[in-house]
Amino acid sequence: EFKENTIITVFGASGDLAKKKTFPALFGLFREGHLSSNIKIYGYARSHLSIEDLRTRIKSYLKTPTEESKAKVEPFLQLIEYISGPYDTAEGFVKLNQSILEYESTNNVQQPHRLFYLALPPSVFVDVAKQIKEQVYATNGITRVIVEKPFGHDLDSSRQLQEQLSPLFKEEELFRIDHYLGKEMVKTLLVLRFGNPFLNASWNKEHIQSVQVSFKEPFGTEGRGGYFDNIGIIRDVIQNHLLQVLTLLTLDKPKSYNAEAVRDEKVKLLKSIKPFKFDDILIGQYGKSEDGSKPSYLDDETVNPNSKAITYAAIPLEIDNDTWRGVPIIMRAGKALNDGKVEVRIQYKPVDQNDIFADIPSNELVIRIQPKEAVYIKLNSKQPGLSNSTSLIDLDLTYNSRFGDFWIPEAYESLIRDALKGDHSNFVRDDELDESWKLFTPLLNYLESEEGPAPVVYPYGSRGPEQLPQFLKDHSYVVNKEH
Ligand code: BG6
Repeated sequence: EFKENTIITVFGASGDLAKKKTFPALFGLFREGHLSSNIKIYGYARSHLSIEDLRTRIKSYLKTPTEESKAKVEPFLQLIEYISGPYDTAEGFVKLNQSILEYESTNNVQQPHRLFYLALPPSVFVDVAKQIKEQVYATNGITRVIVEKPFGHDLDSSRQLQEQLSPLFKEEELFRIDHYLGKEMVKTLLVLRFGNPFLNASWNKEHIQSVQVSFKEPFGTEGRGGYFDNIGIIRDVIQNHLLQVLTLLTLDKPKSYNAEAVRDEKVKLLKSIKPFKFDDILIGQYGKSEDGSKPSYLDDETVNPNSKAITYAAIPLEIDNDTWRGVPIIMRAGKALNDGKVEVRIQYKPVDQNDIFADIPSNELVIRIQPKEAVYIKLNSKQPGLSNSTSLIDLDLTYNSRFGDFWIPEAYESLIRDALKGDHSNFVRDDELDESWKLFTPLLNYLESEEGPAPVVYPYGSRGPEQLPQFLKDHSYVVNKEH
């Protein structure tokens, strides 16, 4: 459990991430009774804001689902203080430290517990980390530092960042957020697989025909083109979010449920993914919508007019181990599509052709990460009545119907709570990060080189590149009307 009198400092307090995610998540925890009122929260940024300005900025993003929760907004805002200062010199950090020390001494804190959240662009990351170490590190207590992607741009830059951070903080003091690991349906994957022996028994190449992790967003880069243009969809969501989901879906059973055991298995699995075959990959960039009402990617004034940035990618891959060898696996993600949905689909092998039900459709297990969290299994059953016809039905666990009254924490709520407790299970370990870059860097280098292919243009609001159905078939994926 985390200590009372914890000090949380949010760097980049006036920025978008802090306003939309970090502060609302802290409020969510407070609202649900998971942050004591003995804590103190500092916002830190360069802007000269008054504390009232900061509170006003934050306020409209706080979620208050009930009347009762509205009453918690003011007490929460009162926990926050603001300090403005530069990121690369000591003065602001000295001020921060003085204020923290005062608070700790007034509250007679024996063992300080300080959590620093870096909601910052990578350009100031290392500067801030150094200042934290020099000025506000809890020498006789616990210091924890939460960092957010991008963790580098490729293998070299990621290692460089790591080399700059590791002399400052021990691995157990660093919490690298991949917010997908805080999503409820991602957190349930291990339980689903290893808590249900009948599923676990069929979770292998003998029974599984194909695995697909897919991410669809219905909007483009609107307003974020400047950030996205150098990044592309692969770095934005596939190398991190989708790969994390895939890893949890396919890793071998960990020796225990603890953070290191699970992450050891993740690293082992990542090492067994075969290098991607470059010419097997489908890439796209969105154009105008068919009716012309939605802009193309290149219409965004913040992007390079000749940009080859990829807003869609479908990447087939293979895992070279005894459980998965030969099973086609696809990760695909796209912006500006017809739908907003993230899901996993496990298609099972068809029944044997000599079987009594030779032509019956195959089973499929779907884990819908968002929206409307659900797990459903497509099963064959006899249609009720006098006929013997069969039908494929859903055995459906939709969270809202089954667990309607439960609070499903937002990803950031869950992760900040974990970091406060010092639980690393849902954070990315350094070697895990390294393996993911090893896998993706050669592909990114190829795609971004002179000889790299031009992305296929697909209309905003469509299902993606028109080659997609054929691509899925080529990779053993049975396309049904849900796609
Ligand atoms: C972020 C990406 O990491 O994840 C965004 O930078 C993307 O481009 C977002 O939209 C998706 O997260 P979520 O939680 O909305 O699915």
